[in-house]
Amino acid sequence: MKVKSKQTEEKLNGVFYTPFEIIDFLTSWITDKQQIFNVLEPSAGDGRFVKQIVELADKANVTAVEIDSLECEKIKAIDNTKVINDDFYNFYENIKDIVIKYDAVIGNPPYIRYQFLSEEQRNYQSDILRRNGMKPNKMINSWVAFTVASIELLSLSGKFAFVLPTDLLQVSYAKELRKFIFKELKEVTIICFNNIVFSGIQQDVVLIFGIKRDMESKKH
Ligand SMILES: C[S@@+](CC[C@H](N)C(=O)[O-])C[C@H]1O[C@@H](n2cnc3c(N)ncnc32)[C@H](O)[C@@H]1O
Repeated sequence: MKVKSKQTEEKLNGVFYTPFEIIDFLTSWITDKQQIFNVLEPSAGDGRFVKQIVELADKANVTAVEIDSLECEKIKAIDNTKVINDDFYNFYENIKDIVIKYDAVIGNPPYIRYQFLSEEQRNYQSDILRRNGMKPNKMINSWVAFTVASIELLSLSGKFAFVLPTDLLQVSYAKELRKFIFKELKEVTIICFNNIVFSGIQQDVVLIFGIKRDMESKKH
């Protein structure tokens, strides 16, 4: 088992910023064909997804959640953006029962192992999974809960675009998530890479994007 004190600060907080080619690609898809007004970035880092969204979609208002207050200072300079310096687990707990839904959710969530989450985060993570029909367990990494909560917070026909570890396609603890994704989203596209995308970490990632099913398409 990995010991918390030996992990780098970056790794513990899942801080690996998305390369700009991927930012351009996913934000272009999100802003293509339909107007988006209300966008969520659940772990915004330095705001690189946010900045590109507001440049491409002039009617978009972005809610950017980020746990690191120094990074939040950078996001504050971006137009049409509400910056929330909070733990996304906490943000979700505060809004989950209010009817706030987003036209689009975009980002690259932190990849934090269960053992490195706080007790409170573990409890909130379990709540997110249970509310969405999944069984929580101690294998589940933060990116699973961020994905489930983000899809839950999407409006019908809203667009979802995330950078996720290739574990999504492989590991058994993500099996329920794979089912959830295809139950909740249509027109799902997954893009894999031949090379490592993030320099400095050995983390293979995929891009996944799709559209939240409306009632009609859920019946089929
Ligand atoms: C993989 S980085 C991605 C940042 C940005 N979305 C990007 O794509 O460049 C993950 C971000 O999540 C933030 N983070 C970690 N735990 C968080 C939490 N519980 N709630 C909100 N943000 C969190 C980290 O500070 C980091 O900025």
